[in-house]
Amino acid sequence: MSEILEVKSRYVLDSRGNPTVECEIKTEKGYFKAMVPSGASTGKHEALELRDNGKQFHGKGVTKAVENIQKIIRPKLIGLNPCNQKEIDSLMIELDGTPNKSRLGANAILAVSLAVARAGALEKAQPLFQYLGELSENKNFVLPVPHMNIVNSGKHAGFENDIQEHLIMPIKAKSFSEALEMSVEVYHELKNNLAAGLGSRAVLVGDEGGFVPPLKNTNERFEAISKAIEESGYSGKIVLALDAAASEFFNGKEYTLWGKNYSSGELIDYYCDLGKTFNVFSFEDPLAEDDWTGWREITKKLGKKRQIIGDDLLVTNPARIKKAIELNACNALLLKVNQIGSLSESLESARLAFNNNWRVVVSHRSGETSDSFIADLVVGIGALQSKFGAPARSERTAKYNQLLRIEEYLNSQGKAEYAGKKLK
Ligand code: PGA
Ligand code: ZN
Repeated sequence: MSEILEVKSRYVLDSRGNPTVECEIKTEKGYFKAMVPSGASTGKHEALELRDNGKQFHGKGVTKAVENIQKIIRPKLIGLNPCNQKEIDSLMIELDGTPNKSRLGANAILAVSLAVARAGALEKAQPLFQYLGELSENKNFVLPVPHMNIVNSGKHAGFENDIQEHLIMPIKAKSFSEALEMSVEVYHELKNNLAAGLGSRAVLVGDEGGFVPPLKNTNERFEAISKAIEESGYSGKIVLALDAAASEFFNGKEYTLWGKNYSSGELIDYYCDLGKTFNVFSFEDPLAEDDWTGWREITKKLGKKRQIIGDDLLVTNPARIKKAIELNACNALLLKVNQIGSLSESLESARLAFNNNWRVVVSHRSGETSDSFIADLVVGIGALQSKFGAPARSERTAKYNQLLRIEEYLNSQGKAEYAGKKLK
């Protein structure tokens, strides 16, 4: 059994051109790297992403986080067995000693945590997804239904008071590769339609690779997307989803969308209408992160047939997930590893969700890197759904491409199952 011989850290750039943390672990078996992502519409209950707030990079430098790995984490990790994921994560959480990882930084701890997992996988001579399956006691490897954000708005496109993401979910594909093909065709059909009708500026893309057309509201965007689905020949095979990121348009009392104010109840009525007009299967963050009453109401109204996902509400935090389960505030978890800041805690959050018959969607952040760890994670834990952005821009396609490779690997063993059937 080899041990951790060296731990290095450095800054690299993310997809928005901001610095982020990379960690590199050395064992006798080789070198293992991981990079961390970064959100824009971050939940206020997330673990702390440590930034320098100095002159460099408009305050976004990560020198302190990089140093914390070198000076505080590294000396404790040398000599440890990289397969002891839980012990290593617990050790870093203890070294940090704060409830939100504000001393060392969630970005520092997560970079190490993910690199350690890669080292552990090779130690056991397993593909990463299989090793993550072992860590989460899952043997049922299923390729996920992607949620693809093909029309971007809100913080990812420079707009205020708007619904953030308009997504397609190719539920009725036979395989993941067919699902990807269908989604890519719809993406390009939409692109052609938007460019033809609204001009070439209408197909400039936002942070997650979706288009940012000058369409007034979600109804108009869903109309354009539904048309592209129909013209591509996939009516009835692809359903719609949205991520409202509603904390971004809540002022503590009311919600403001497209110049109009809504109470919690009025906003829920709007979602109910939208769900009737279009085939919307999944609603993420339909209400603000602490509007528990609103969340309970929407889950009561729509939760039997549709998916209500907590992102900013839950921040991948077991304590908040427990509260949401008790209150029946939603029925699905958006799992973002950097919201909680370690692999082991992310696995605990997923377990909690599964044990309570919730669905789990493994998600990227709007600021991403070429690291494809979450593609292995979604298959490894058997999560059934992924949210990795549009099928464009390398930081997004890195994840889809890794899913293609995993599908090929599982196919060679005769067991590449696609999750579509399990969702309806
Ligand atoms: P973020 O957006 O990464 O900017 O937080 C993604 C999301 O809200 O799901
Ligand atoms: Zn979200």
